[in-house]
Amino acid sequence: MPSSAIDYARQNQSRFLEELKALLRIPSVSTDPAHKGDVRKAAEVLAAELKRIGLENVRLIETGTPEKPGHPLVYADWLHASGKPTVLCYGHYDVQPPDPLDEWLSPPFEPTERDGNIYARGAVDDKGQMYMHVKAIESLLASNSKLPLNVRVILEGEEEVGGEGIATFVASKPPELQADFALVSDTEMFAPGLPTLCVGLRGMIYTEIEVRGAKTDLHSGMYGGAAPNPFVALAQIIARLKDEKGHILIPGLYDRIIPPSREELTAWESLPFDEEHYRQTEVGSKSLVGEEGYSVLERTWARPTLDVHGMPGGFIGAGAKTVIPAKALAKVSIRLVPDMNPTDTFALYQSFVQHLTPPGVDVDVRLIHSGEPCLIPVDNPYIQAATSALKEIWGKDTVFIRSGGSIPIVGDFARHLNLPSVMMGFGLPDDNLHAPNEKFLISNFHQGIESIVRFLETVGEPAEN
Ligand code: BES
Ligand code: MN
Ligand code: MN
Repeated sequence: MPSSAIDYARQNQSRFLEELKALLRIPSVSTDPAHKGDVRKAAEVLAAELKRIGLENVRLIETGTPEKPGHPLVYADWLHASGKPTVLCYGHYDVQPPDPLDEWLSPPFEPTERDGNIYARGAVDDKGQMYMHVKAIESLLASNSKLPLNVRVILEGEEEVGGEGIATFVASKPPELQADFALVSDTEMFAPGLPTLCVGLRGMIYTEIEVRGAKTDLHSGMYGGAAPNPFVALAQIIARLKDEKGHILIPGLYDRIIPPSREELTAWESLPFDEEHYRQTEVGSKSLVGEEGYSVLERTWARPTLDVHGMPGGFIGAGAKTVIPAKALAKVSIRLVPDMNPTDTFALYQSFVQHLTPPGVDVDVRLIHSGEPCLIPVDNPYIQAATSALKEIWGKDTVFIRSGGSIPIVGDFARHLNLPSVMMGFGLPDDNLHAPNEKFLISNFHQGIESIVRFLETVGEPAEN
């Protein structure tokens, strides 16, 4: 299928990449208050670009409350393809913190090309992928002066911190989000060169456990043996949350799980997955852990898991300090699978932590943010158009996978707006998301743009009969 938009995209590859680099130079770290201005700057740059390429009604939509202001959403649309479907293109322009800084081979906010990749924080998650949408739309508009379908764009700046602002906006069912389906490019390909659609994501609850003991820090020689130690108490609590085999011990936690179907499991078995290669090159640990009787793909895609992210507090300076800290903190999350829900899971978890709390300390369990798991229906024309576009660009049949990560808004699109999502991602398993040396394969950036161009063209084609 000849496409002048694809020709345009090919002719403009180096400019597209330079523009992405400019976006990657903005340190839009949403969790860090010090970067609030940078997050807004990224939103403004994107809004200006959406306007420049010819989208309409471009604006920032503020989120949060006066007491707790959020990061802005960016909105744009082009709605002149009457009778054609409407796509809602979603992406996030916020990024994870870059630390640990000393493990980056090139600075996280100085995008650097090495061995066919672009290295920077946000290269693949999600600035690079989100920008593929922008450049695909530009290619379509610039080469035809119209789009093959109606387009709305919504970009958020809080995905990495739970996405409260967009969740509130979506729940209000605003006219700006009326569409037939959503396009989300924030997931991975299963293997290099293998076109992939993601059809399921885990949800999560992200929590903090705070344990308090004595009224103040104490000398550990004078009081050790008599005063409770909150870090020891916290370690005991955490150690009892799951067993050595990765089975979570919270009563009732597994009650609502719907296992994957036989067909889905069979399809996963035929994916090109080498556990030993995964252990060595992706994880890099002595062995893998997890629940017996489940494959690695099942463990990470279709089973709930519990992880500890950090335990700030106490004495962490150089050398030694003999102190019994007055309080201890742990950041703990649980990934959820269909049909678990965040509210019920948090309640089960909270009361189990209380139950595990040893004498002499008080414990607080706080919910920081949460998101629902989701499973996407695949029997719709958008998924079909996606697989046919991917076949044209990559020359291969699409594999359907789930992912262990979470994109909370995808479930909200389905629940509140009745939108099926097409999760067409072009990241690779070794792209170092959330880690030092995050990267995006430059050829995937360009082929991703072409895939999206062909996908949108295919959705907008007149029905054959
Ligand atoms: N893009 C990721 C989620 C993802 C990663 C999906 C890999 C599929 C494959 C997203 O930006 C992310 O990191 N989400 C957070 C959730 C959020 C609520 C903090 C996550 O999964 O930890
Ligand atoms: Mn992401
Ligand atoms: Mn992320």
